[in-house]
Amino acid sequence: MPSANYDAIVLGAGAAGLMCAAIAGQRGRRVLLVDHADEAGKKIVISGGGRCNFTNIHTAPDRYLSANPHFAKSALGRYTAADFIGMVERHGIRWHEKTLGQLFCDGSARQIVAMLLGECELGRVELALSSPIGEVGHDGNRFTVALPGRIATAPRLVIATGGPSIPKMGATGFAYDLARRFGLKVVEPRPALVPLTLGGEEALFRTLSGVAAEVVASAGKSRFREAALFTHRGLSGPAILQISSYWRPREPIAIDFTPDTDADWLVRTKRAQPRTTLRRALAATLPDRLAEALSERLALTTELANTPDRKLAEAALQLSAWRFTPNGSEGYAKAEVTAGGISTADLSSQTLEARRVPGLHAIGEAVDVTGWLGGYNFQWAWASGWAAAQTL
Ligand code: FDA
Repeated sequence: MPSANYDAIVLGAGAAGLMCAAIAGQRGRRVLLVDHADEAGKKIVISGGGRCNFTNIHTAPDRYLSANPHFAKSALGRYTAADFIGMVERHGIRWHEKTLGQLFCDGSARQIVAMLLGECELGRVELALSSPIGEVGHDGNRFTVALPGRIATAPRLVIATGGPSIPKMGATGFAYDLARRFGLKVVEPRPALVPLTLGGEEALFRTLSGVAAEVVASAGKSRFREAALFTHRGLSGPAILQISSYWRPREPIAIDFTPDTDADWLVRTKRAQPRTTLRRALAATLPDRLAEALSERLALTTELANTPDRKLAEAALQLSAWRFTPNGSEGYAKAEVTAGGISTADLSSQTLEARRVPGLHAIGEAVDVTGWLGGYNFQWAWASGWAAAQTL
């Protein structure tokens, strides 16, 4: 079987792999970038509703989940949102801030893929698409990767094959299997940024499918003020996706449906408008169907004047911390990312190199670093890819 030698082989031509290969190539390394898909950056293409939320200007390490919350600091600090914006602008890609520091292309996510492929070309990266990865070996000095019809070898190997979310797009748990074969630990992976499902009594809320409202969703100490959406299976929308990354099975989440009120607001409303109902009071800020469903569940459907203050205070409290206990999530099929992954304890935060396997690196979503919704995950992919490339 013919064999070819490289300085580095990058497995996975997604966000992190493309960045890593391009920068290493531009640093003069001979790089092979391999992917089993027939197209590079497929998740980039579908991201951000086709416009790619490519970074967030508020990127900070505390917006990432990891067993080691300090791990992401080094890479995020050395390759920042401003660095990526610089690249985007050099390629003449127009962008805008949508909300909460989230930057999107004005045109299409395909521009970001074209930009990264252009950067790879500049670095003379050899791109091998539609190339299933066979046996991966290591003799202590060089890694060997069996590809269709040939063997590639290099002293450095980068695992950039992402996590298993959205398997129908070719996502796999390959990164974890390979890491384990080299003795690296894997923090139990789980779907994140994923809709949550409701059952039992709470399944009644599914009749609100399609209704959205701005809420504060919380789980433990984590809180997000964004839109929540009722679906035919349970709960979704940005606030829920965010909180899903912190949620653990069988635990409740709390939803504040009245985030701009205080504990006395209903009693005050009763004094000012005794003939109004809870439904009408809620409908001032919430969609009418939701206002109706909440008042019915609280069994407060008559005029406020007929309800004792104590009951109104209790209702206000319940509306500000409505407990849902999801019976599950929509799983990897719908999860935007995978939390958990290759343990940061086994990697250098500077070079993303395995401590006990010199020359082996892991970057992007494959690693146990998971960002909030809003461009944070791509920024981690760019930053970790860039950081690893500095030592290839
Ligand atoms: P990524 O998944 O991008 O790349 C992995 C590559 O490895 C793929 O090309 C895959 O084909 C390849 N591969 C996998 N297994 C393989 C195997 N066995 N052999 C060979 N190749 C293999 N984030 C964000 O910041 N802003 C956003 O707008 C969005 N939007 C978004 C929408 C949707 C629908 C999803 C599913 C995800 C997002 N994300 C996002 C998350 C973001 O897409 C994700 O965090 C990054 O793509 C991760 O980059 P990686 O390069 O690590 O993996």
